[in-house]
Amino acid sequence: MDILKIKGGKPLEGKVKAAGAKNAITKLLVASLLSDKKAVFHNVPDIAEVDVTVELCREIGSHVQWNRAEGILEIVTKDLKTSYVPQRFSGSNRIPILMIGSLLGRTDEDIIVPTAGGCKIGKRPVDFHLSALEKLGAQIEYREMKKEGAYFARAHHGLKGAIIDLPFPSVGATENTLLAAVHAKGKTVIRNAAIEPEIMDLILFLQKLGVRIGIEADRTIHVYQAQQFYEVEHIVITDRIEAASLALAGISTKGRVFVESTQHLPMISFLNKLHEVNAGFEVKKEGIEFFYKGPLRGGIHVETDVHPGFMTDWQQPFVVLLTQANGASVVHETVYENRFGYTETLKLMGADIEPFTQCLGNKPCRFASHNFLHSIVIKGATPLMSKDIVIPDLRAGFAYVLAALLAPDISHISGLHFLDRGYEHLVEKLSLLGADITRVSSSNKSDTPLHPLLDALVGATTNRK
Ligand code: EPU
Repeated sequence: MDILKIKGGKPLEGKVKAAGAKNAITKLLVASLLSDKKAVFHNVPDIAEVDVTVELCREIGSHVQWNRAEGILEIVTKDLKTSYVPQRFSGSNRIPILMIGSLLGRTDEDIIVPTAGGCKIGKRPVDFHLSALEKLGAQIEYREMKKEGAYFARAHHGLKGAIIDLPFPSVGATENTLLAAVHAKGKTVIRNAAIEPEIMDLILFLQKLGVRIGIEADRTIHVYQAQQFYEVEHIVITDRIEAASLALAGISTKGRVFVESTQHLPMISFLNKLHEVNAGFEVKKEGIEFFYKGPLRGGIHVETDVHPGFMTDWQQPFVVLLTQANGASVVHETVYENRFGYTETLKLMGADIEPFTQCLGNKPCRFASHNFLHSIVIKGATPLMSKDIVIPDLRAGFAYVLAALLAPDISHISGLHFLDRGYEHLVEKLSLLGADITRVSSSNKSDTPLHPLLDALVGATTNRK
């Protein structure tokens, strides 16, 4: 069980490269299971989420060669060894549930997948996935297994194209439907689909694989049953969450960071908010440079939304930035009902944050008449104090790293398996920018004098991978 030791208070300066997107490559690997053709991916991030997904694909029968140093991964699944995803993958991430969509058209056997996991940031049901797949002809049952439940799915009469109206543009449900539609007879129409850049990347991959697929301006996707499959070579898009996280580390520490490989288009709504808070950026040929250019201006309003809105996964480090901006700012979370739990720790570090159950904003929000704390008001600027922290989920984890980088003394952060899932070589990248950050083993007490309470908490934190 490792721990990060961070001594903050230094401006971050320099150049780092953003990796390939976690939320693209994991889905692309699952999509490769649709056919028996080889897929070669470039720009593959060296993160634990890819390890877990590769392990999952190998379990199903994939042959995978992954050159981590080069970021190149080859995968081919000539024959399915099994369509049973073991319970040990339960709770690991959001990927097992997508196995239903990718395998339904490849086997007559039952596809058995454990319940979906991922960060605990709300209930995260899979009802949209299941009803879309059922509409395409799948029969899906939930059964209790030894420890926890699993979904049993089959399409004994084959899949048949249909019109799917998603109640909300869910990323996962759109992906699952897209995958199943590849083998569904005729044409499938997905209305109110998610169109996140990572989904666009999946669509590009599917087109190269041999699928006829198109998108209309109103977020309707048309998919025709594939007649033939081809080998695919594909460059994974840049991780726009990592890019924004590194950008915010540069700006909030009053530094200047060039994030190589950051693409402009997927960052539009993020960059607009930087304009509003008086943070600097320059879009260059090879990426985007982010910098502090004077006092940060609060008094702004951020509402998270589906693409092309402000991403829910940018929200957490952006809130840390807003603690350093002068004035009261409002953040309204409209994607997840429970994504502000992490602010309690920021408050203990000195942030002035008040949560509200009301919608502090005008965007349509599914949580309007519920009792969820899904809006906050941040009053800045407040200095942050160092603290010993246990990470509760991936994006909160980066927010804590950022808060620790702003606090002048030493913070210890545990629960690093969350960060490992989605941030490639985080310590190396931040060190390159001049951060005083080290990763030490919690058993190596001589390296890091830990708070006794933290020791106890670390002991209690289990690695769910
Ligand atoms: N939802 C339902 N029913 C469903 C599916 C979703 O009610 O069947 C709700 C969810 O509970 C949530 C909202 O719809 O409130 C959005 O969920 P969505 O399906 O869009 O999210 P996801 O596919 O589970 C992916 C990313 C998340 C990212 C969201 C939104 C992956 C592996 N995860 O999750 O990324 O926040 O889309 O963009 O792609 C992260 O990387 O840290 C992360 C949480």
